[in-house]
Amino acid sequence: MMVQMSQRKPLFAANWKMHKTSAEATSFVRELLSGPMPDSSDYLIAASFTLLSGLRQVIGESPILLAAQNMFFEEQGAFTGEISPLQLKDIGVTHVIIGHSERRHIFGESDELLNKKLLACQNYGLIPVFCLGETSEERESGKAAETIKNQLSLGINGLNAATVENMIVAYEPVWAIGTGKTASPEQVEEMHHLLRQALPDTTRLLYGGSVKPDNSEILLTLPSVDGFLVGGAALDPATFRQIFQ
Ligand code: PGA
Repeated sequence: MMVQMSQRKPLFAANWKMHKTSAEATSFVRELLSGPMPDSSDYLIAASFTLLSGLRQVIGESPILLAAQNMFFEEQGAFTGEISPLQLKDIGVTHVIIGHSERRHIFGESDELLNKKLLACQNYGLIPVFCLGETSEERESGKAAETIKNQLSLGINGLNAATVENMIVAYEPVWAIGTGKTASPEQVEEMHHLLRQALPDTTRLLYGGSVKPDNSEILLTLPSVDGFLVGGAALDPATFRQIFQ
């Protein structure tokens, strides 16, 4: 298989969303680590808060990176039900998903709030996986490009160059998440091209939205795609492996 990749190291990220008990999380990692994990790529698991400490132990010195799926921007205080950057750092979490479409659309997180969360990542040395993407209405009304450009510029406003160079950006069209509808290679290239113009060369740009073993190979040949953020297909270690292998 000839796969043309960009110069940035590919990253394959599993977003488990609100799935898995601790026993299931442990068995996923053990199964994944029982096969080859070539160091030509990076691997990341984004898990529920309750799983992170346990996963930190199971992951150990393996090449898997550990992410939370959300966090608040304050270090501590009267914010019932929230989790802070300090608490994530404390248990060895290195990455955080910020602005996933489910946070934006189900929980109403605004661009302004997400910017505060990204600034908090910068202050605490956590690497953000910053998600953005247009809804089907925005696409149908010709506003897809404008939407993602705004989400990016409002999100990264005030971040320093080093943070932006190291962060990960995931383009996830809302209409493709969990729907089985993947964006076409042309759509992904067009949107990634727009984002790339506003980002330094080193920032990794992932695609997410119904990535499966049967569509990942073609998407990975796109020069603008540095890897994937995978939801449903990353709940099973064998399927996740098929995507990166
Ligand atoms: P999906 O989810 O792969 O199930 O579409 C992707 C995501 O929400 O990150």
